[in-house]
This record gives sequence, structure tokens and C-alpha cells, in this order.
Amino acid sequence: MENIENLKSTTLAQIAAAQDLKALEDIRVNVLGKKGSVTELMKGLATLSVEEKKEMGKGLNILKSEIENALDARRQSLAEAELNAKLARETIDVTLPIRPENQGRIHPVSKIYEEVIAIFGEMGFEVAEGPDIEDQFHNFNALNTPANHPARQMQDTFYIPNPESDNFDDSYVVRTQTSSVQIRTMEAKRPPIRIIAPGRTYRSDYDATHTPMFHQVEGLVIDKNITMAHLKGCLYDFVKAFFELDDIPVRYRPSYFPFTEPSAEMDIGCKKTKTELKIGAGDDWLEILGCGMVHPNVLRAGGIDPDEYQGFAFGVGMDRLAMLKYGIPDLRTFFESDVRWLKHYGFVPLDEASMTGGLSNNGGAAR
Ligand code: DAH
Repeated sequence: MENIENLKSTTLAQIAAAQDLKALEDIRVNVLGKKGSVTELMKGLATLSVEEKKEMGKGLNILKSEIENALDARRQSLAEAELNAKLARETIDVTLPIRPENQGRIHPVSKIYEEVIAIFGEMGFEVAEGPDIEDQFHNFNALNTPANHPARQMQDTFYIPNPESDNFDDSYVVRTQTSSVQIRTMEAKRPPIRIIAPGRTYRSDYDATHTPMFHQVEGLVIDKNITMAHLKGCLYDFVKAFFELDDIPVRYRPSYFPFTEPSAEMDIGCKKTKTELKIGAGDDWLEILGCGMVHPNVLRAGGIDPDEYQGFAFGVGMDRLAMLKYGIPDLRTFFESDVRWLKHYGFVPLDEASMTGGLSNNGGAAR
């Protein structure tokens, strides 16, 4: 028993003095390993009398678990100390500026989001949202586009089966247009309404100017006595602010959308040469967006009385806006996640778009 006491005090002292995990492991092997001192004493039990064996065996078991506990505790405190030392060693000053070559970039589409929100925010518009996966009611029917309406062919829709119904009319879609948010907004709030709805849209299309997922921003204004003049003034202010020009020629061409009557497309003046597109001057025209006065059927579908309220709406392709403003030739490159591309076309994160501080800092100060 005296052996046990000695062994205990020397081993515990060694454990307390161990300076690293390696030293601790050596102690464990020396004491509890195959040839360790406690293991040897255990082997020696065979030579003892039954009485001695009982007493000595019990003592050795207690010793063994005391040593194991001490090893565990020391291991834990050494690991903690090691971690603390590492943390202290690797402290970094997060307030230091990043190295320019490592700095991330804001994607042009994100930049356009910010710019569009800054411009319409200044005019008093709120940002509204709707789901990417829509039912046909919100994406089509309520927008005066019932099943079999020829305008459904204008868009190559991705349909999603409805697990609860075999009827094709109940299948979902990934929304083909942010116009669905017009309906969701009317369902959620009463006029006056003044919202923009930027978001993702989807159509089965793929070439230099079309990708299956793209971005639109929808606008909707509903109030009493709203006229086409309001629409024209609002969109004129928008394109001037967006292209950062004091003046810009615009024209409206009659068009057709099921959810507006009358409908128009807005063009802006530009000059096209073989190598360059200059916006804001010249004899050429560039189509920029679709718009119109909200169709009475759409107001009714949204629970609004068209005899009391009128509205205007518009829809703009945001990727197209980015291509025009920042001179990016191929839409497909937007979604290829190539960091070299992002470095070239992206924006410095701290250059936030604002109407007072400058939208884009003159067309991409980042570059
Ligand atoms: N949703 C139309 C499209 O995707 C764009 C559009 C046109 C939206 C006219 C409107 C609008 O709100 O009034 O082609």
C-alpha cells in the first residue's frame, strides 16, 4: 500500500508539471501503458494471498482512475492554454484596410439593385417582394392572362408539377415576370400604392442576351386620378438618374401587354456605331422598358375598384440595364462565377449607391 501512495504522489506531481500534451502522453505510457508501473503492480497481484489481493486490487483500481482523471484534467487545461496562446499569437486587427488585390467585388447586378432602389426610394417607392415559385394565378391569371390566352406564348415558362393535383392549371411556375408582385401587393395593402419589386425571373431561353434566370424590376403606382402623364414623368426621371445624364431623349411606342391598357414601350435616344453605344444623344433609339396603365381587370383581381382608382406599371430587365450602363457584351458571363470577370466588371463594396453621394461614381470607379 505504501507503494501505491508513493506512486500516486509522484505521478500526480509529474502530471501537474507536464508542460505539453506530448509530456502528458509519456507519463500515461510510463504509468498505465503495457509496461507501466501500475500495470506491473497489477500483474504482481497474482502472487498475493486472497486477502492481500483484494485490498491491493482495490487500491490499484482507485489509483488507476485517479491518475486517469488527473491526466484528463491536465490534458484539457493544456489544450485550453494552447488554444489561448494560438489566439493571442494570431490576433488580427480587423480594422486594418484589406489588401487591394484581395478585395472582393460587388456584382454588377447587385450594383444595379442598389442604384434602382436608391432612385425609386428617393421618389417615395417602397420595395416589395414575392416568391420565385408562383402559382399561375399570380403569374398569369390575375394579370389578365387566363389559360389559353395567346400572351402566355410570349414567355417560355418553366412549369413545376403540383404534387396535390394532376390538373395542369394547378401546376406552379418559376415566375416569368416580377409582375406577379403587383397582385401580391394589391392583396396585402390598400391604395395609395407605390412599390418597386426587384427580383429573379425565369424563362427557357439562352443566348448572348438571354439566360434562364435573369432579373427584373417591376413598378406599380395606384392612387386616385393617376394618368399616363405620371407614368411618363416618373420614368423620365428614372432614366435620367439611372444613366446619370442631365437630359436624355425618350419616346413611347404603343405596345401590348395583357395587364396594361394602353401599353407602351419606352425607348431612349442613343448613338450606335460598330464599336460603341453612346446613350443620351444621337439619332438611334434603344428599347429600355415596358409600361402602361394598369388594366381594370388587374385592379379587380387585386380587389381594387377600377372606377375609384387607377394606376400605372412598368417592368425593366435589370441585367439589360447593367449591360447598357456598364458596357458588358454577353449576359451569360454574369452567371459564370469567374473571379477575373468580377474583378473587371465588379464594384468596390464601400462605394454605396445613393442619390446624394453619386450612383455609380461615374460608371464604375472600381475599374
Ligand atoms: N412583365 C413584362 C415582361 O416581362 C414587362 C412589363 C411590361 C411589366 C409592362 C409591366 C408593364 O408592369 O406595365 O415582359
